[in-house]
Amino acid sequence: MDSSKVTLHGRQFRVMIPDTEIDKAIQKVADKLNARFSSPDSRPIFIGVLKGSVLFLADLVRKTSFLSEMEFVRISSYEGTSSTGKITLNIPLSADIEGRDVVIVEDIVDTGESINFMLSYLKEKNPRSISVCTLFFKPDKYRYTHPIDYPALTIGNEFIVGYGLDYDQLGRNLKDVYVLDE
Ligand code: IMP
Ligand code: MG
Repeated sequence: MDSSKVTLHGRQFRVMIPDTEIDKAIQKVADKLNARFSSPDSRPIFIGVLKGSVLFLADLVRKTSFLSEMEFVRISSYEGTSSTGKITLNIPLSADIEGRDVVIVEDIVDTGESINFMLSYLKEKNPRSISVCTLFFKPDKYRYTHPIDYPALTIGNEFIVGYGLDYDQLGRNLKDVYVLDE
């Protein structure tokens, strides 16, 4: 079997970014976080946005060298390969983040609807600071002005799967990142 191609729900995808490149990009984000949170009084809380960020979060935190905590929320917005624009909060945050440094960990920032929702949701809980980490960023599709502090990889408008990202729930387990081969 040719592992550079994969078929999900009848559509063919080909490798776009190999796992070695993803690993290097995550290391760069971790280096920046290690510099940012070098002070022992910070102890930031990573907030993973389920489900897509799970693989990224797992690899990212293992490259950090400061004390931290880990929490999760689940939101959903996408169906198929295009955004529905409506965000639903499926699993709310269960931790108190007042006065804390929080680091949102996203799989991908596309239009920015999801990250904008997360920022307003978390701001109401009065954290000390909010930083945004994302594995992928599509700057040409981003509709908001809030800076994306730590994008690991910047891509165009293509639809990608793998490494946590799905096409209708399939493909999250792929170790490389794939793009539609059409
Ligand atoms: P946004 O709200 O438009 O920024 O989209 C963010 C969410 O949509 C992400 O957390 C993903 O779940 C999903 N998404 C956006 N672009 C892609 C893609 O290229 N592949 C897979 N999922 C995507
Ligand atoms: Mg998704």
